[in-house]
Amino acid sequence: MSGRYVLLNSKSLFFLLAASIGIPAYSQVEAELFQTHCAVCHGSDRLGVSGPALLPENLRRVRKKQAASSIANGLPATQMPAFSGVLQPEEIASLVEFIYTPLAKTPAWDEQTIRRSHRVLNPELVEGTAKSSRPVYEADPLNVFLVVEAGDHHVSVLDGDTFETIHRFKSHYALHGGPKYTSDGRFVYFASRDGWVTKYDMYRLEIVAETRVAINTRNLAVSGDDRYVLVGNYLPHTMIMLDATDLNLIRIIPVTDQQGHSSRVSAVYTAEPRQSFIAALKDFEEVWEVHYSGQISKIGGPVIDRIKLDDYLDDFFFDSAYENIMGAARNAKNGQVFNLTEKRKVADLDLTGMPHLGSGITWVYNDTVVLATPNLQENTVTIIDTNNWKTIKKLETLGPGFFMRSHENSPYAWVDVFVGPNKDVMHVIDKATLEIVRTLKPAPGKTSGHIEFTRDGRFAVLSIWEMDGELIVYDAKTLEETRRIPMKKPVGKYNVYNKITRSSGTSH
Ligand code: HEC
Repeated sequence: MSGRYVLLNSKSLFFLLAASIGIPAYSQVEAELFQTHCAVCHGSDRLGVSGPALLPENLRRVRKKQAASSIANGLPATQMPAFSGVLQPEEIASLVEFIYTPLAKTPAWDEQTIRRSHRVLNPELVEGTAKSSRPVYEADPLNVFLVVEAGDHHVSVLDGDTFETIHRFKSHYALHGGPKYTSDGRFVYFASRDGWVTKYDMYRLEIVAETRVAINTRNLAVSGDDRYVLVGNYLPHTMIMLDATDLNLIRIIPVTDQQGHSSRVSAVYTAEPRQSFIAALKDFEEVWEVHYSGQISKIGGPVIDRIKLDDYLDDFFFDSAYENIMGAARNAKNGQVFNLTEKRKVADLDLTGMPHLGSGITWVYNDTVVLATPNLQENTVTIIDTNNWKTIKKLETLGPGFFMRSHENSPYAWVDVFVGPNKDVMHVIDKATLEIVRTLKPAPGKTSGHIEFTRDGRFAVLSIWEMDGELIVYDAKTLEETRRIPMKKPVGKYNVYNKITRSSGTSH
């Protein structure tokens, strides 16, 4: 390979430089193409500027064919230009390979970088005055929905009584993991795939502050006392603790062990009764509990409990007391119940395939509480008695499901079929008989998924997950459709009241 650097013209100097910042030398041609045509928007380090980061970690949900088409044809109504007239098909193909090649060295995303990205857009909303003001709209602020529209990276604010859109604004590219409200529903925090955290004022409908904490982020959680935001990341292997008032950086928490290994963070959750955050890890057989009750400053705290497990646990469900977590095992054979206080496994679960416990819900059934979870691999919904952790029913569905939802005031639980030929159907389960009583096909051929209820549970709102998608509102008792609202790939809906009261019919 050294032969390539014999001629020290400006080109080879560039490649020497590229190699030294971690771009593998075998992709010199692609690296040069990238610097010429793409770097101005996507960053010479591929970490993103006005355009998103182009790294394999960030492109996990994008097929290579789709990426090639984005490059050739551009993306309509965005800054992403079409290159089919500029680049040959082979050049586009090699650029695709290039952006799916990991960086040779994980770039640092250090304190200075985070602080430089931090912006307070509305200082008056940070300082005390915020609490007294009223919403700038007439709607019940607790029955408002945020609708994340992934199709064009916008968020709609929807009145849950009239189903009129109050406001619509541009978000950072590819929001991840669901927005999280403060306990009174006044503010909300978003995380984006590329590591941007945004604080938004639900009364004034304005962005308060934002900061970029990582290169690839999974999700965030807000502490029960509204003082801290914790962000879990894939790249770098960190958790970031922010001041919830203005998103100022408090702590970078590296997820490393004594041997120098590190782990990606699958998700962070808030466990209010424990005054802690729980972090699910992808590469350690541990969960981490981050306690926030004590003093936390730049130099001291938070206290972190590293809880050892006998398996990886990266998707789980909490019981209502936040004592037990239910997780699926990687062997796809069984799940387990792990007690966080006793720090030991207390039961095995009969859970095969890949249950999506993060989307599991509970309800009262006879004299017990049941947990129901869809399955990302099998055509089943598993229903477990939380008194003895025995599976009491495996309901057969028309395909693997992703989201399951209900509401305390509704007799039904809804589960989607997310993959396969039946991705356009939605099952409705009677919570009293544990039977599927209705299978809806709201838009034949189009993916339907994700239900959210209005505050009072009277209406269930379904998403058609397509670029030319829509929300479909159902009367939650009669299951009659009442209206349709066009949306651009509405991937998630978040009702303020159901989220801040931690309704047992929705995930948190
Ligand atoms: C003028 C700015 C600009 C230039 C130049 C540019 N891009 Fe983009 N690119 C963007 C923006 C902005 C987006 C996000 C569009 C959106 O909102 O969907 C994007 C999106 C993409 C995506 C889709 C990513 C995803 O997650 O689906 C790919 C792939 C991509 N660009 C590759 C490239 C490549 C390769 C080049 C160079 C040949 C390039 N871009 C040049 C601005 C640019």
